[in-house]
Amino acid sequence: MSVAPEVGVLLDRLRKHRLTTYQHSCNVGNLARALAEGLGLQQDEVTIITLGGLLHDIGKARIRTSILHKAARLTTAEWEVMRRHPEFGVQILANNNNLEVIAPLVAYHHERWDGCGYYGLTNNEIPLGARIIALADSFDAMTSSRAYQYSKNLQSGIQELAEGAGKQFDPRLVELFFDVMPAVLKRNSHRAS
Ligand SMILES: [Fe+2]
Repeated sequence: MSVAPEVGVLLDRLRKHRLTTYQHSCNVGNLARALAEGLGLQQDEVTIITLGGLLHDIGKARIRTSILHKAARLTTAEWEVMRRHPEFGVQILANNNNLEVIAPLVAYHHERWDGCGYYGLTNNEIPLGARIIALADSFDAMTSSRAYQYSKNLQSGIQELAEGAGKQFDPRLVELFFDVMPAVLKRNSHRAS
């Protein structure tokens, strides 16, 4: 699967639109790859899940920066637009034959294990790659907050994952995450703060 040029173009578009979303996407791609490798998946599948992590929020490239950058609470109308970013992502990928394979991961990255996510899929109805990305997405969002020290964020991120096992997250993946996390954090030492 040779998709590097298309992925590069899309990531560049995201970087120009909103740098922090781009940085978050790189972190999620790294974490998702580590989890997919930790599960012992085939290389093709690891690649698909890594790309899904990198492009999970590509739909935000279609959302106005006035919404993405808004510091204050979003209005109901703005929040409704924001919630459509998985759908916008799928539309963007539909223009790329080579990347259609990651569309389900992008579509369902806000699903929850307990069925309380955007589309209400539950447990194994959610594609494995989307479950992996959901976990990586949440962990990076929690630990990258600028408001607190990284070490404090790390502690509360770990706690939140543990508490979310079997509710928000696939419990098997949370366990795996704690196994692979030390190596990932070492590799991600260049992460965005
Ligand atoms: Fe998202």
